[in-house]
Amino acid sequence: MKNFVVTTNVKVNDKLIEKAEKIAEKLHVPYVTRQKMTINYLIIKFSNVLIVYSNELVYVNEKKEKLFFHLDTAMVRIKNNNEPLIELIEEKNQKVLDITMGLARDSVVLSYFGHNITALESNEIIHYIVSTGLKNYDTKNEAVNDAMRRITTYNVDNLQFLKNCLNDEYDVIYLDPMFNRKIKGSDNLSPIENLANRSVLTDELFAEIRRVAKKKIIIKAHNSDTVFEKYKFKKIERPGAKFSFGILEKDLI
Ligand SMILES: C[S@@+](CC[C@H](N)C(=O)[O-])C[C@H]1O[C@@H](n2cnc3c(N)ncnc32)[C@H](O)[C@@H]1O
Repeated sequence: MKNFVVTTNVKVNDKLIEKAEKIAEKLHVPYVTRQKMTINYLIIKFSNVLIVYSNELVYVNEKKEKLFFHLDTAMVRIKNNNEPLIELIEEKNQKVLDITMGLARDSVVLSYFGHNITALESNEIIHYIVSTGLKNYDTKNEAVNDAMRRITTYNVDNLQFLKNCLNDEYDVIYLDPMFNRKIKGSDNLSPIENLANRSVLTDELFAEIRRVAKKKIIIKAHNSDTVFEKYKFKKIERPGAKFSFGILEKDLI
């Protein structure tokens, strides 16, 4: 990405500088010393900034939107204990491939309820912030922390990953793509709107998903999306929700 730098919190020490320099190197972007620069000044000067704090990473874009790891709605879903995705999967301890990780809220909920999750994200910054959060973030809830730590993530394009999978390698494949979302989404995704991959569900991708999914394919999409009819998903509408789940049982394809 152009006009993107890594820096630290204003309150700095050698350890934090070293950490920020390593992250900049990993992401192949310049590291700049923060000095006394305010966030507003940093954005004017560099447009996109990843700020390294001792216990978190915060990405800020030119619209001052911030992306950092948090679980918001996932914690609510875990506490409510009536998760529609779990009902759709039905069986316990399934091997699930989430091919559109994003902020990993769905992955965390699925992992918490006992599934074995591998999650894919093609955007390097989203992947870095979210995978680091999954490893280190402390929710003060041991079971949720364990669920986060159990998730395996890859920074990869989902089609490329699927092409290297065996037939029937995952029990369930789950996808929650961006392409069907309005730019100003209503699902707390605005911080990743401008970073996220908006690739569409092509016939080639769908064929790979079908090959690799052993039992079920589950999609989340806007109620008005034509993807349900196009790929013959059974649409499960939820009262009051703008997004529906669609499910395809492999036996019935
Ligand atoms: C709507 S978000 C997913 C939100 C997620 N379900 C959650 O619970 O936070 C979709 C994510 O999929 C990623 N994505 C889109 N196309 C992709 C692709 N071809 N390969 C890997 N990731 C992709 C986007 O970058 C974005 O972060």
